[in-house]
Amino acid sequence: MTRPLKPGLIGSSPPHESALLHVAGEARYTDDIPEAQGTLHAALGLSPVAHGRLLGIDLDLLRRQPGVVAVLTAADIPGSNNCGPLVHDDPILAAEHLRYLGQPVFAVIASSRLLARRAAALAKTAIRCEALPAVLNALQAHAAGDYVVPPMHLSRGDAATALAQAPHSLSGDWSVGGQEQFYLEGQISYALPQEQQAMLLHCSTQHPSEMQQLIAHALGWHAHQVQVQCRRMGGGFGGKESQSALFACVAAIAAQQLQRPVKLRVDRDDDFLITGRRHGFDYRWQIGFDEQGHILGAEVDLIANCGHSADLSAPVMARALCHFDNAYWLPHLALHGFCARTNTQSNTAFRGFGGPQGALAIEMILDSVVRRLGLDPLLVRQRNFYRSEGSCDVTPYGQPVADNILQPLTGQLLASSDYHARRAEVARFNTSSAVLKKGLALTPVKFGISFNVVHLNQAGALVHVYTDGSVMVNHGGTEMGQGLNTKVAQVVAHELGLSLSAVRCSATDTQKIANTSATAASTGTDLNGKAAQQAAQTIRQRLASCAAALFGCDAAAIEFANDEVRAGSHSLSFKDLVAKAYLQRVQLWSEGFYTTPGLQWDKTRLQGRPFYYFAYGAAVVEVLVDTLTGENRITRADLLHDAGRSLNPALDIGQVEGGFVQGVGWLTTEELVWHPSSGALLTHAPSTYKIPTANDSPLDFRVSLFKQANAVDSIHRSKAVGEPPLLLGFAALLAIKDAVAACGPAGCDPQLCAPATAERVLAAVDALGAQGTAGTT
Ligand code: MTE
Ligand code: HPA
Repeated sequence: MTRPLKPGLIGSSPPHESALLHVAGEARYTDDIPEAQGTLHAALGLSPVAHGRLLGIDLDLLRRQPGVVAVLTAADIPGSNNCGPLVHDDPILAAEHLRYLGQPVFAVIASSRLLARRAAALAKTAIRCEALPAVLNALQAHAAGDYVVPPMHLSRGDAATALAQAPHSLSGDWSVGGQEQFYLEGQISYALPQEQQAMLLHCSTQHPSEMQQLIAHALGWHAHQVQVQCRRMGGGFGGKESQSALFACVAAIAAQQLQRPVKLRVDRDDDFLITGRRHGFDYRWQIGFDEQGHILGAEVDLIANCGHSADLSAPVMARALCHFDNAYWLPHLALHGFCARTNTQSNTAFRGFGGPQGALAIEMILDSVVRRLGLDPLLVRQRNFYRSEGSCDVTPYGQPVADNILQPLTGQLLASSDYHARRAEVARFNTSSAVLKKGLALTPVKFGISFNVVHLNQAGALVHVYTDGSVMVNHGGTEMGQGLNTKVAQVVAHELGLSLSAVRCSATDTQKIANTSATAASTGTDLNGKAAQQAAQTIRQRLASCAAALFGCDAAAIEFANDEVRAGSHSLSFKDLVAKAYLQRVQLWSEGFYTTPGLQWDKTRLQGRPFYYFAYGAAVVEVLVDTLTGENRITRADLLHDAGRSLNPALDIGQVEGGFVQGVGWLTTEELVWHPSSGALLTHAPSTYKIPTANDSPLDFRVSLFKQANAVDSIHRSKAVGEPPLLLGFAALLAIKDAVAACGPAGCDPQLCAPATAERVLAAVDALGAQGTAGTT
């Protein structure tokens, strides 16, 4: 096959295709699409109780409100009242049972958004219900054995015997909170009825095909009657993988009933109250180890707060269990995953999809081991790393870690971050500083890349070359700011030897590529990039045959580069070749289809090869903690992340920075608080829920990519980079714990759950005065 002359575009850093539009405020999001004449606006009336029986809705009261055109309830849904992705247990509008405070019960459709919201705000008066006792906490649900899906178990060897025979053991409880996606653009759908019983939906979603399916079910229609489009999202972070469906279904049902365009854009507070987020986890753990800190056995219960329905909790828990090992060989292991049902929002995908909750547990446990033994935390981590000797390279779920770069990557970071000298300096500082304490931590990351549901690992693309030589690409992925379209355009331009400006990606559209997977699991470029590459290669082959006939040479001699096609002394502009090919009736467009090879997964036994490869990284974070206020500052962060042979280093560095900061936010300042009796989410706006700002980024922030090609045949040997860097944020939590430990006696193990808010840090510092080694047996 012919190859382009210069690989210039791959590995270069053209800016995000919408960068200029983003900064100029000109990028068109769903709410910016000019409204069609007669557009109506929907708002949702929410359950005022966390658990209850719905006795009635005062529809007359709502219909009497100014501007109200209609009020929809569950009874108005012509098809199935479900927007749940896997288990059909998620009502669009509550029917008889109220499951959480904030659950949509009715929709008001009015002439303006403000009037719709005003009427919907009467929900408390309009909804008649009988309150029932609510379960707001996962441990309470676990004690009652109430789960949204059956418990899952992942084990290897004989954990009980290993624990009993280990020279040392520790046990404890720990917890980490959930996390709000806080996409800047809230949930939104705009439905426009079309001729012959059809619906066009503009939707801010990571999963257009699933929106299409769920709308069709809700309307009692076929999929071919529903078209879903998404040009871009203002962030998704997993929150628009399944949970855009409720809004899409309500807008479509209302538009169909009224035969008018209907837009549903939720207010930020309502978005918080209605939608779920990252699952908070509780852990109960036991670990056995030797004097050197080698882990010999572990048994851990992982209890996730799933909220009122299953949503994606089963694959989230599966990923949590498959990431508990993180970078470490754990010979004997018994993990038990419980998906607890509570009367709260239904928790869902969020960057990392359970992986962070799994891997964080072993990092916290290892930290306790290190403190018990008084050893160097880095040394103990390295001793437990996966390694090829003695078959210590197989994960508990049976997949060999064939591409292990943990040692060289960590080694490079240790040198570039000057880790050892700084650890000594931190210790010196802490002996001479009474109030301010420094902490330092290094944590590694190993993250499995692929959907953990095998059939989702497929993608399609369409590439059109127009007669003027310009190229339009459409693929099944969605753009949420991560730069997917830029990378796919780079891949296609490279195949055809074109400048990037000759290639454009169009909006994701269910009428172009069918049955797409969500843009999730970090697989956007891996899957869609390969599909688009294949389509472009097909066209290039056809053009090469055409050029070979014109030049009188072999097709293999044809080269595509610099917007030209050449062989020896012959050359033609790409544009001229295309024009000639068109006259010869050469097909100038093609589809491409890709499936990730080699995957197999037994979801009952949690065994197999769920991942195509692993992405790695490591972070060294230094913090300064004020032990009188509990506040902290990241004074320096050094991140080294593996993006394989990066397609676009600038975009990848942006993902590493963003992922890290988002991980730090999860573990330090972002706290969700539900009222203990009413079950109301109290932290439902930026005034009470604190995401990191630019001011919270590390004072000295050093981010690099580890330069090594992917060992498997991924797109240009790059690696997925969307989610794994979030786990680099672990180092911030461990550094804070390290600083807190400096307040106690040698060998103390501070009790610090996450998020490590200033209040929790202060409590942990205070507790050290009372007990030096809490939580250990
Ligand atoms: N980056 C931005 N700017 N906005 C986002 O919403 N989502 C993250 C990550 N990076 C996100 C982002 C998540 S949760 C995933 S799974 C990946 O992007 C999805 O895109 P990819 O597969 O193309 O990397
Ligand atoms: N990540 C994100 N979404 C998913 C996954 C996953 O691994 N599996 C199923 N949906």
